[in-house]
Amino acid sequence: MPLTAIIGALWGDEGKGKIVDATNEEADLIVKANGGGNAGTTYVINGKKVVLHLIPSGALRKKRSLMAQGMVMRPEQLCKELEEFNWDVNLGIDPRLQITLPYHLALDYAREKAADLKAKGNNKTEGGAIGTTLSGIGPTYEQQKSRAGIRFFELCSDEKKLEKKVRENYDYIKGIIANMGLEMVMPDRKIIDGKYVIEDMPLTAEQCVEAAVESGRKLKKYMADVSDEVYTALKEGKNVVIQGAQGTMLDIGFGNYPKVTSSEVRAPAVYTAVGIPAFPMKVIGIVKAYPTKVGSGPVVTCLDGGKWPVDENYSDPVAKLIRERGQERGATTGRARRVGWPDLVVLNYSHKLNGFTDLALTRLDIMHDIDPIKVCVGYWQDGKLTTKYNGWDLETLSRAKPCYVEIPGFGDISGVRNYESLPSGAKQFVELMETYTGVPVSIISVGPDREETIFRNFKAFE
Ligand code: IMP
Ligand code: MG
Repeated sequence: MPLTAIIGALWGDEGKGKIVDATNEEADLIVKANGGGNAGTTYVINGKKVVLHLIPSGALRKKRSLMAQGMVMRPEQLCKELEEFNWDVNLGIDPRLQITLPYHLALDYAREKAADLKAKGNNKTEGGAIGTTLSGIGPTYEQQKSRAGIRFFELCSDEKKLEKKVRENYDYIKGIIANMGLEMVMPDRKIIDGKYVIEDMPLTAEQCVEAAVESGRKLKKYMADVSDEVYTALKEGKNVVIQGAQGTMLDIGFGNYPKVTSSEVRAPAVYTAVGIPAFPMKVIGIVKAYPTKVGSGPVVTCLDGGKWPVDENYSDPVAKLIRERGQERGATTGRARRVGWPDLVVLNYSHKLNGFTDLALTRLDIMHDIDPIKVCVGYWQDGKLTTKYNGWDLETLSRAKPCYVEIPGFGDISGVRNYESLPSGAKQFVELMETYTGVPVSIISVGPDREETIFRNFKAFE
């Protein structure tokens, strides 16, 4: 039963796109299980950069690509992405999947604004806001739980009923926003002169109805029982890849709550998100050579003075160098990501939640000529050294101090294609990670392109 999941081990943006694409070669089905328009996945194919938010990466190889129940989907955004492919994508969308409409974005935006205003009132330097991608993710999952949500099935069924429900939800959300003393406006995100700015865009119920009805007509043909399709494929011995979104530390239950996304991103959650039993699964944890985070919340090894949004005046030169070389800016929002030294305490916590069978270490090339490289192997917390990660206690975590070991730096490794040829410092890094977690590092990425990868006895499917 060849089922393989690609899971972000840290705070997202670990370079899952490239690893998913590498496994897709042998895959029959590629399935996305969680998240929505917040996930920007970047692929580099023959030097050309492609960013997809909703469509699974299988589309790049013209393979069957499925969006499972556990995802949320903004239909206008999906239509835009499909247009780029001339609608020629072998796509299946689960009828149970929840739909994000513009009013969800308005509520996400209002909540973040209100949290920031509150934090300013308290004279706190770090905004009270989560720093969400303003994609309406939280409010969509929230409406699923309150059973007011609109599923893909309803988006593509009776238009009169759909219109009624959209109007009811619009009014309900408008009421919540008015209670906060704010207007029903959408965030219009732009990059102006390299700066991330958000402008208000008024939102009417008519716009929401139109968005829903028009996209429902266009997307109807893609409806498919993803749960059944994946089950059947696995029973027939086909290869199925689960393309994770975000990263384990953003998991709604086990991440740094409340500085998290609103879906379950861990490997075991794949079963409930897709709707299949707990078949054996190969779990590839994607770990970037250095952690990054967009949005607020504790990152113990952070080199940006713990500041969010990033203030370059407080950044360590290593953070600036890594951000510059790695172009560490959000694929969805363009915001600068915080950068830190590698942290094995977080990685091991993540492993224990996911059960990684393999690790894929990405962006190792970005660390070249940084000497020494510091790797965090424990935290000093309230006078004690610990290797445990208490992800639920953000206060204590924000006071924790990293305990580092130093490994020697290394030069340019972008041309290396086999493990033996890597310089000693790079090997020490890999082997420290393996010893600490007990998981083999079977893929090492040394550049953005498909070819710039070292495989060590790696098998995409067992
Ligand atoms: P939301 O998912 O837009 O609600 O944002 C919640 C938190 O998750 C914020 O800190 C975001 O920056 C973060 N986040 C959401 N999606 C991604 C992603 O794909 N990569 C990295 N961070 C993400
Ligand atoms: Mg991303």
